[in-house]
Amino acid sequence: MLEKDIEKVLVSEEQIRVRSTELGEILTAEYEGKNPLVLGILRGSVPFMAELIKHIDCHMEMDFMTVSSYHGGTKSSGEVKLIMDVDTAIRGRDILIVEDIIDTGRTLKYLKELLEHRGAKVKIVTLLDKPEGRIVDIDAQWTGFTIPNEFVVGFGLDYDNNYRNLPYVGVLKEEVYSK
Ligand code: XMP
Ligand code: MG
Repeated sequence: MLEKDIEKVLVSEEQIRVRSTELGEILTAEYEGKNPLVLGILRGSVPFMAELIKHIDCHMEMDFMTVSSYHGGTKSSGEVKLIMDVDTAIRGRDILIVEDIIDTGRTLKYLKELLEHRGAKVKIVTLLDKPEGRIVDIDAQWTGFTIPNEFVVGFGLDYDNNYRNLPYVGVLKEEVYSK
């Protein structure tokens, strides 16, 4: 059904599973004994968060924040807004932000500065990175996959809130946008 709208698969379900296992092992070593707050950015990070934390084998807590930088379509508005905050105390804590994708970098720069301002130690893991899209200077400590500067959907990523449920990351057919 959804697959007919996909031009090509960029990252397969299997690749995501293997890479999430590797990242989980790295993060286990990093955060052992630190009880980090693993902070998913809604809504795009949910599938990656679920896959990743299965492989983080140490004590951790989980929370979510919602920010918006895209108002539908495929272009960023450039403005980041805080929609839903964490309800966990974060001063002095290790926070691992879990994000679906870094494009311009605006979302993560905003979030990192906000959380650091509140006294947290912040690191970032992202499923995808589009380095060619970068406008502000920010990088993740850990990246699943580096991808070309194309608009992607699936595994949490959406086009007008659709396609998040695809089990892989792919590029939509041109005709879907022009509908
Ligand atoms: P910035 O530009 O702030 O972007 O680094 C981060 C947020 O923008 C969204 N984004 C995308 N969403 N396909 C999507 O479905 C994409 O190719 C894409 N590029 C950026 C995403 O919500 C991310 O959190
Ligand atoms: Mg997002």
